[in-house]
Amino acid sequence: MRKLNVALLSGGTSGEREISSKGGDRVYEALDKAVYNVMCYDPRTDLARLAADARQIDVALVILHGVPGEDGTIQGMLDLLEIPYQCTGVMGSAIAMNKLVSKFFYEKAEIPVPKYASCIRGQYIDAGAIIGRLGLPLVIKPASGGSSLGMSIVRSADEFNAALVSAFSCDDTVISEQYLQGTEITGGVLGNHELEALPIVEIVPKDAHEFFDYRAKYTPGETEEICPARIDDSLAQTARSLAKAAHRALFCKGCSRTDMIISNGRIHVLETNTIPGMTPVSLLPLAAQTAGMTYSQLLDRLIELALEKPGFPEKPAEEITHCFVREKKHT
Ligand SMILES: Nc1ncnc2c1ncn2[C@@H]1O[C@H](COP(=O)(O)OP(=O)(O)O)[C@@H](O)[C@H]1O
Ligand SMILES: [Mg+2]
Repeated sequence: MRKLNVALLSGGTSGEREISSKGGDRVYEALDKAVYNVMCYDPRTDLARLAADARQIDVALVILHGVPGEDGTIQGMLDLLEIPYQCTGVMGSAIAMNKLVSKFFYEKAEIPVPKYASCIRGQYIDAGAIIGRLGLPLVIKPASGGSSLGMSIVRSADEFNAALVSAFSCDDTVISEQYLQGTEITGGVLGNHELEALPIVEIVPKDAHEFFDYRAKYTPGETEEICPARIDDSLAQTARSLAKAAHRALFCKGCSRTDMIISNGRIHVLETNTIPGMTPVSLLPLAAQTAGMTYSQLLDRLIELALEKPGFPEKPAEEITHCFVREKKHT
């Protein structure tokens, strides 16, 4: 059989370039070279070459994080070039990239989110009112972006402005969010129509980290990742169901990973990653491994999903969140 020509996209120009490159290197190593011809492209320098090679490319693996790349821009280019890819399309990528817009869609689908307030550059921001409504501590984060860049925990009113400045250095829209003390978990999902929720991963950053920050995320040994999470079965089921509901609510395709916090026995959704990390310490590969899939098998599955023809699912989705039929509550 002819080998599939795979375009591997990693690197890029966002603040998460280094992580993307690390993930890309790991993906390159793990792809079975007997089955795939792998061609590598870094969008920082190679977009013209990608366009020139488009006719030979069967499928793309997009391992880009942050803006631009995870936000629908590369997906738009691949659509124009008629190259199928393993991740969410233009619209879903753009929605999921923005944590504020994502919340609107989560709320429509009755997915619980922490209390929040939006802060837009150029508009008056009433710090006292926000603190009054959300309480202290609270979290300030840029609406777009990832890897905890530009994020701070505000523990007293006099820290509010500095946190805002740091978040505004990443984005024009910033979110203030109620701080949730509790157990942090993440739920991976695979699929286009028929969805498979992977085992839930529990995230325990070492004490030195105030939260799951950049160093805790990417320095081996700085965080304990426990899969399956040490939570009771019914909570794990709810978390898996919420991860699938979030995948549907944001129009995700291929794979996603939804970050959540369990606080006072209740699960709150923080965000959905449409291109989850693929480095050696990343969480989606760990969840897949717990489900019995090696890293290489996970890549095979993602390529299969990228090449799956669009069509109607054979059976109705378990949780219907899109046509506003409320069949099932998640809490
Ligand atoms: N509302 C919150 N309460 C407590 N911790 C939070 C909250 N929001 C974010 N965090 C912490 O910050 C980390 C990153 O937040 P997240 O919203 O997942 O953004 P991203 O991973 O895209 O940077 C989380 O994994 C968690 O440790
Ligand atoms: Mg996150």
